[in-house]
Amino acid sequence: MRTPICERLGIEAPIFAFSHCRDVVVEVTKAGGFGVLGAVTHSPEQLERELKWIDEHVGGRPYGVDVLIPVVYDREAEASTEEVIDLIPAEQRQFVDKLLDAEGVPPLSADDAAEARRELIGRGRNTTPLGARRLIDVALRHPQVKLVVSALGAPPKELVDELHGRGILVGSLCGKAEHAKAQRAVGVDIIVAQGTEAGGHTGQIATMVLVPQVVDVAGPDIPVLAAGGISRGRQIAAAFALGAQGVWTGTIWLGTRESELTPMEKEVLFKAKSEDAVQRKWMTGKTGRMIRSKASEAWEQPGAPRHLKPPLQNILYHGARIRIEKAHRDDLCSFPAGQVVGNMKEETSVRQVMQDLMQEYIDTAERISPLINL
Ligand SMILES: Cc1cc2nc3c(=O)[nH]c(=O)nc-3n(C[C@H](O)[C@H](O)[C@H](O)COP(=O)(O)O)c2cc1C
Repeated sequence: MRTPICERLGIEAPIFAFSHCRDVVVEVTKAGGFGVLGAVTHSPEQLERELKWIDEHVGGRPYGVDVLIPVVYDREAEASTEEVIDLIPAEQRQFVDKLLDAEGVPPLSADDAAEARRELIGRGRNTTPLGARRLIDVALRHPQVKLVVSALGAPPKELVDELHGRGILVGSLCGKAEHAKAQRAVGVDIIVAQGTEAGGHTGQIATMVLVPQVVDVAGPDIPVLAAGGISRGRQIAAAFALGAQGVWTGTIWLGTRESELTPMEKEVLFKAKSEDAVQRKWMTGKTGRMIRSKASEAWEQPGAPRHLKPPLQNILYHGARIRIEKAHRDDLCSFPAGQVVGNMKEETSVRQVMQDLMQEYIDTAERISPLINL
């Protein structure tokens, strides 16, 4: 399964794993893939602790860090000196409070509310360019970070140049061929072509259509990773056939015992069918694929307020997520997941997922290679 990107990053298999969970990043990397830690759910201080832990456990191997650098965001909220949690407009705050009250979800205790407030303030502005910069500054203190990836637009050229100056490769996620053009223009090293099937922020174009389009735009010098809808070796073989040098995966790791999801969230995950992974704006104010719940659907009803821009919608969502979690209300529980969720029925381990992906890829390659002589 080796492709040129394996040499470039010093890895054994071009299986990239996006996860917010340090254990997943370490286990994938130790199993020969490339783990990338999603930084956005961590305050800069937490990120420092997570990266230190990864450094200590990853056996000297390289790994990556991912940030969100949105083009459209709430500039006033980013610049304001008030705590970000206090900037959420009353209309949206009351909408969520009323929904949870009507559903009988108890409010947080004073102690839990104080802890939630601290947590939300800590990560509050991560989903703005300045917030992303703070997270990157933390990553730069960790020499085993060999790849920084950005989503939600081409990263600024100065940032790409700065990271290159430090010997770090830069990746970027795209959902359209035009995005890939902009990413090529700023000098990114790896483009992740992410189809609509994916969990998290997604566009409308399917992986099968998008990957060859992006490969053509990227040209021979920029490797493309296929993302969205990949949870099996057969899909890795398909990604290579489409011209990708590797795969970038997210949802499949959520069902592992190493994943950060709570037991209730895992139950929701294993019960969900592919069609339950819907595109909604509930989480960040930008279209993202997530598990449908009563809370995500409430925002779709007539009379619901407009979604806020990053970072405010995200803070609102996370505050509600904490309250829903404490009340063990699976019917209100939404979190990002892609259509492959329909294949995930029970807890497994990162090592098992890696083995299954590789074995099914080998079986597929053996099955299809004779077709050439038919
Ligand atoms: C729980 C979850 C959170 C995600 N958060 C981010 C994120 O913060 N930054 C990012 O670049 N991509 C994020 N993504 C998208 C992944 O990077 C990846 O492109 C996607 O999961 C691939 O599709 P798949 O889910 O079908 O494997 C997230 C995906 C999931 C499932």
